[in-house]
Amino acid sequence: MVKNIQAIVLAAGKSTRFKTGNTKLLEKICGQEMILYAIKLLKQLNIPTTMIVGYKKDVIQPVVAHYTNNTVSFIEQLEQKGTGHALLCSKPIWAEDHILVMNGDMPLITETIIQELYAKHIKTQAAISFVISHITDPVNNSYGRVIKSENSIQIIEQKDFEGDPLEHCCINAGIYLINKQFLVEHILSLDQNNKSNEFYLTDLIKIASDKQYTVTTYTAPFDCIRGVNTLQELWAVEQIKRAELIKHWMEQGVHFPTAQSTHVDLDVTIGAGTFIGCGVHVSSGSVIGENCTIRAFSSIENSTIHDNTIIESHTIVKNSIIGKHAHIGPFAHVHTNSVIQDYATIGNFVEVKNSTIGTETNAKHLAYLGDACIGNEVNIGAGTITCNYDGIQKHQTIIEDNAFIGSNNTLVAPLTIKHGAFTAAGSTITTDVPEDALAIARERQTNKEKYALKIREKKQSNRFSFLGAIKTHHDITT
Ligand code: UD1
Ligand code: CA
Repeated sequence: MVKNIQAIVLAAGKSTRFKTGNTKLLEKICGQEMILYAIKLLKQLNIPTTMIVGYKKDVIQPVVAHYTNNTVSFIEQLEQKGTGHALLCSKPIWAEDHILVMNGDMPLITETIIQELYAKHIKTQAAISFVISHITDPVNNSYGRVIKSENSIQIIEQKDFEGDPLEHCCINAGIYLINKQFLVEHILSLDQNNKSNEFYLTDLIKIASDKQYTVTTYTAPFDCIRGVNTLQELWAVEQIKRAELIKHWMEQGVHFPTAQSTHVDLDVTIGAGTFIGCGVHVSSGSVIGENCTIRAFSSIENSTIHDNTIIESHTIVKNSIIGKHAHIGPFAHVHTNSVIQDYATIGNFVEVKNSTIGTETNAKHLAYLGDACIGNEVNIGAGTITCNYDGIQKHQTIIEDNAFIGSNNTLVAPLTIKHGAFTAAGSTITTDVPEDALAIARERQTNKEKYALKIREKKQSNRFSFLGAIKTHHDITT
């Protein structure tokens, strides 16, 4: 149990190395904004938290406030003068015995690291304790190097480091637990005498060491403390997080034959026996039942899919619910609060928007069903569309149980097609159809006897004059 501790999360930086012009802290990793990883962890550990904000604070703050129900407080760093200066901005609210300082750009951090750092800090009665790790990549220049000798320890930032990176592979992770008394007494000793002309928080280590205070280190695996400064580092971190999630679901009996190309977010549930195909995205808020099949390149976003359902390839399901034993796709698009009930079929090139499709109802090919309420055991013929929009308002189409909608129907809403009614193929249905009626709404066919022969004759003569034209053209050009 960690106690007498408060956290300061540094999140005011300019994301310069990201080069996108946006703040890296709102980039999503497995569906969750980067900054929320640290915030969530501190919430789980019940550590009161303050965030230092500055660059893009207007977009960062609402995301954190919403997620934490306004339990995190914010302090603004008006000018970004370095991590030491960012910490200094929070001085007025230092209240607990121990101040936990964390960079906001380390999404892989675990509760265990914080708990063990705390335990070691208390046990050694350190003035400052911090997390270290080891890298073997000599060209990685994202970390301060930890330089230890017999009686001293210090962190030299990459820009100021002149030694051999292979000999000094111990790096600073960016998580510090500092005794408040020590911090109050020494934070003003930080200076800007370095190549970045910034106040480095990391200089506190040297200050403590020089003054013979106890400095404690805790070693964590590199993959748990990776910082994100560049788009490559963002990509690397997402691979690690995603692999972790997929391994978890594999352990629960979910089959991912091409796991390397599958995207699974946090906040997803997948039942045992389910198959997730190549290139599938299962995004946050989705629940997939047992023994489902989600085939290649489909995307399931904030949706529920019940047991034994098949989603064929290239299908998008968004903000919707699909029942049991349903069959959706390929190339189907189900979205905006749609509900597809058990044993229904939504086939290729069918779009369903804000509609309910009843049990055992089929819309197998090429249809648009928008703002519709369709009962059980209904057949929707190929090429049928609901005309739900009159240019001003959206209107509803109701199709009751056991109705049969012929192919290529245009259903002009508002409209009700009653129980058991039939509509003829090619109809434009503009008024309600009574129960068990047959609606035919199309031009009656006329056959003109032998007229085809005339057309053919006409075509033949046209063809000759056309060939003549080609010939003339040929003569001219050769
Ligand atoms: C920092 C450490 C480095 C460590 C690395 C770990 C310093 C000087 N260096 O370097 O030793 O190895 O993290 O990933 O601390 N920020 C502010 N205000 C500022 C500047 C930064 O709030 O004026 C915030 C950033 O938003 C970020 C965090 O502080 O969340 C760290 O800043 P960053 O620039 O990423 O530091 P690094 O160069 O990664
Ligand atoms: Ca960083």
